[in-house]
Amino acid sequence: MATRQPMQASGDVSTLDNTTIGVGTLVEPDVMVGFRYHPGAGKAVLGRNCILRKGTIIYGDVRIGDHFQTGHYAVVRALVKIGNYCTLSNHSTIEGIVRLGDGVRIMSHTYLPSRTWIGDHVFIGPGTTFLNDRYPLRRDPAPTPRGATVEDDVMIGGGVTVLPEVTIGERSFIAAGAVVNKDVPPRSMVVGVPGRISPLPEKLDRENDRHATVQPTDFWHPLKADPLTGVWPDYWPDTFDE
Ligand SMILES: CC(C)(COP(=O)(O)OP(=O)(O)OC[C@H]1O[C@@H](n2cnc3c(N)ncnc32)[C@H](O)[C@@H]1OP(=O)(O)O)[C@@H](O)C(=O)NCCC(=O)NCCS
Repeated sequence: MATRQPMQASGDVSTLDNTTIGVGTLVEPDVMVGFRYHPGAGKAVLGRNCILRKGTIIYGDVRIGDHFQTGHYAVVRALVKIGNYCTLSNHSTIEGIVRLGDGVRIMSHTYLPSRTWIGDHVFIGPGTTFLNDRYPLRRDPAPTPRGATVEDDVMIGGGVTVLPEVTIGERSFIAAGAVVNKDVPPRSMVVGVPGRISPLPEKLDRENDRHATVQPTDFWHPLKADPLTGVWPDYWPDTFDE
């Protein structure tokens, strides 16, 4: 196991037993990986060059590829399998029994319940909620919950709700705030509540930008000495230094 720990805050320690972590992975203070959610819990296995930010909790019985990174206070429960180059931003939760492919970018305050399946190069906007039980607490016996299936190169905007069991077809584009309540054919656009499905407009009929989904590093963890120069919007009346 090889980890870098550049930002130790006083009193914070990270718990990394029950874990195998690849070379180059950076673990900030106050991170727990391999959480023993039961006495026989297996290891959490993480690949190389990941970044786990303060407050991250990853349960045991998790398999994660290379270049994974979390924001602060992200949670990954057990029996989750995550490919390479995935991001889970601040305060997002992946419940147990979830699969993410490669290059999946999940923005802040997003919720993925059990039995959600996500393909490759999928973008999930902030505050998006997936669900896995259509009639919770009102069926006896309760069926096994089943979440959504999201195929490759889907773009899901901010504040979207995806109802249980739906499949969102490849390359589809879900507008901000939409409620996806039925299967979406590949290359569709979904807008509104309930989501109205139409063919994807030509201008959006392309795969998600690989520079955004496959990121070897992160804006907030830059490798260059002065990387943020020029990012303060020049159309604002004041400068950052004023
Ligand atoms: C759906 C979307 C792609 C439309 O963008 P657009 O093609 O430029 O369309 P326009 O803004 O010209 O809007 C066209 C019409 O759709 C409506 N509309 C736009 N976005 C909408 C949305 N999210 N939900 C419902 N209606 C929407 C507009 O009000 C307008 O209606 P009108 O013709 O009655 O005036 C865009 O608004 C959107 O939701 N993008 C996703 C943003 C996002 O979530 N990003 C996450 C990362 S930060």
